[in-house]
Amino acid sequence: MATLPTYHQENQTITFNDPAKLQLTVITPAIIRVFENRGEPDDSYAIEGDKQQDTEFKFNQVANHYELITAALTLHIDKALHIDAYDPAGNPLVTDYRGTRTPLDRGIDEAHKKFIKEEGHNVPGANDQDNTAYYEVVKRLAADESIYGLGDKTGYMNKRGYEYDNWNTDDPAPHLENFTRLYKSVPVMFGLKDGHPYGLFFDNPYRSHFDLGKESANYYFYSAEAGNLDYYIIGGKTLKDVVSNYTYLTGRTPLPQKWTLGYQQSRWGYSATQKMVQGIVDDLHKYDLPFDVIHLDIDYMRDYRVFTWNDDAYQGNPKKFVTNLKNQGTKIVAIIDPGVKKDPGYNIYDEGIKHDYFVKRPDGNVYVNQVWPGDSVFPDFGRQAVRDWWANNDQFLTDLGVAGIWNDMNEPASFVGEIPQDIVFSDHDRPSTHKKMHNVYAHNMDQATYASIKRATDRRPFVITRAAYSGTQKYATVWTGDNHSIWPHVQLLIPQLCNLGMSGFSFSGTDIGGFGSDVTPELLTRWIEAAIFSPLLRNHSAMGTRDQEPWQFGEPTLSIYRKYLKLRYRFIPYLYDLFAKEERSGLPLMRPLVLNYPEDRRVHDINDQYMVGDSVLVAPIVQPSQTKRLVYLPKGDWVDFWNHQEYSGQQDIVVDAPLDKLPLFIKKNTILPWGEEVDHISEQPDQQMTFTVYGHSGNYHHYQDDGLDFNYRNGEYNDYQIVVEDDHVSVRLTHHGFAPVYQRIVVELPDQLITLNYNSKTETYQ
Ligand code: GLC
Repeated sequence: MATLPTYHQENQTITFNDPAKLQLTVITPAIIRVFENRGEPDDSYAIEGDKQQDTEFKFNQVANHYELITAALTLHIDKALHIDAYDPAGNPLVTDYRGTRTPLDRGIDEAHKKFIKEEGHNVPGANDQDNTAYYEVVKRLAADESIYGLGDKTGYMNKRGYEYDNWNTDDPAPHLENFTRLYKSVPVMFGLKDGHPYGLFFDNPYRSHFDLGKESANYYFYSAEAGNLDYYIIGGKTLKDVVSNYTYLTGRTPLPQKWTLGYQQSRWGYSATQKMVQGIVDDLHKYDLPFDVIHLDIDYMRDYRVFTWNDDAYQGNPKKFVTNLKNQGTKIVAIIDPGVKKDPGYNIYDEGIKHDYFVKRPDGNVYVNQVWPGDSVFPDFGRQAVRDWWANNDQFLTDLGVAGIWNDMNEPASFVGEIPQDIVFSDHDRPSTHKKMHNVYAHNMDQATYASIKRATDRRPFVITRAAYSGTQKYATVWTGDNHSIWPHVQLLIPQLCNLGMSGFSFSGTDIGGFGSDVTPELLTRWIEAAIFSPLLRNHSAMGTRDQEPWQFGEPTLSIYRKYLKLRYRFIPYLYDLFAKEERSGLPLMRPLVLNYPEDRRVHDINDQYMVGDSVLVAPIVQPSQTKRLVYLPKGDWVDFWNHQEYSGQQDIVVDAPLDKLPLFIKKNTILPWGEEVDHISEQPDQQMTFTVYGHSGNYHHYQDDGLDFNYRNGEYNDYQIVVEDDHVSVRLTHHGFAPVYQRIVVELPDQLITLNYNSKTETYQ
């Protein structure tokens, strides 16, 4: 019988003296890194700084295997270096599969595969390019095992039974269940194996593939085309802990400016003239629709040259226009694409050529493909010097008063075929290829934009990105790209945003109403209802599709849309509280029921309900012509938001949902802040806050700061604790770091209103 391989230990790293030099590193009690150097540098785009904590652990030989034990994870390593991870109670979490894979027999030979591909079909299993696995990691799948995460993939909440690719892709066809990849690559999965939670994060930017029990019910696997073997086994007592641990590792979405939670209106085409933009602003006011932001798509530029503005269409002075709007409470967010028009004489192109900032062909010439401006070249964002240059260019927009930057087409997208794999990109300062740098291209671009806005404005940067890699959540908000005005896409937004949230992207949204195709009044209405708690709330559509602003269909669409926008604004203090918590816990605002109730098997596969924090349950209508639906209420008691009827949990109820009704339930004995009715988020501190009590008791912490800058990180924030016991109310200012406090706090109990006034001498509410 072979003996166990020898090893050596250095601090928290065990290295086996086998030819591959497999390493296990204890990062924290709940995070263990598995690493095998395959010739790539040992660094990460996803993880910033040193995340390793001094951690006590034991490493011993026990019988025929080694055992690595921390407070949260136990690993067994056998003589063949199979790794099996258990929780402290001995429940298996992630265990290596010992058998050999049994690839699906598709009954097709190579010649026919080629033939079918030539006709333009996506060949199953062949995935439109050779996907020869360089290595694969195959783990056992239990009969009762659900899998979540993976970023923005299509399909349902539970990813079990599907396969996906990690290769950032811009594909405008309707994103349906059989799409294996979209714009983002977030190779993290969260599982519940027989109810026990774990996470696995594969930190390798090269193209990779997940098969989550599609090929076999006995195993799931991850394979990559190149790169180091580099993955993290993540434990935690609860699924929430595991998500929290993953976001500890890759970073958390920072608290955004408060106005970014307001309603945002967009359409490709608006920005061609100042008159059109002003017209939209005027209509939003005229129809009494609260809003905070107008987005400018590519038409504001001069012939799609980035960092230019077609001044002629803006009365020669876009700055004046943007500033005037800002003074009236409307922010402008402008789009930027990475593709730089190949145009000698255009300063951005000339500078980039002069300083050698663009990616090149292997023969040393600058690589050219096409995007909106026609022939274009692509900044080499892997290099700090290029990011610094881009950050300076971004300032063109902030100098004009633009409040946020929308980074699009950064997969990077290209119109004349995909950028070849061997195009020379930089990996930091090392020459590399598109093959390696593709999936982190947007990540690096977003990092530059974040740094630029932070430096130029000193405010919390609002960057929106289409493509991303794990960790991009530290710099950017995401939207899910070019969806369509079809019912499957209002359905998709629930699992897609919930899985993005679990994957660290807490600030996300979809194009409300759908980007491509023509919306109908009913679809638009159900969409604004379903998405009303999505952190990013933006209606956006493609040029040439039917107009889909809320007033385009008359009544009742307009009134219903308005009703939900007004509801959204009243919930913004709650959403903002959740963001303040998220920055510390990494737990998303919008989340699947399984994150809150993992022990309840009934919620493992729910695709048409979601929760906002721990207390709000949303059950939208996502089918045409439906006016009633079944709602599953998990453990606890629940209060119908609209009529305050109470229900006990762990049951299905049938609710009426005529066109103007979004079924909404609040967990009993919850206190929620309830903002004033406003038409936009003011930069002035609120004088008063109302808290509504659902039930007769509750305990709630509410957060307040200036909603704009980073001073909260120096303690300039307030924390209020509202406690209600059998209708008896007490309010305490538990942290007073932000000077302006609420002068009045109103607590709304089921049968009475209590008003408390601030006494500045005692800093109490009476
Ligand atoms: C891409 C974006 C879309 C934008 C369009 C024009 O398709 O995803 O949001 O409107 O480009 O810039």
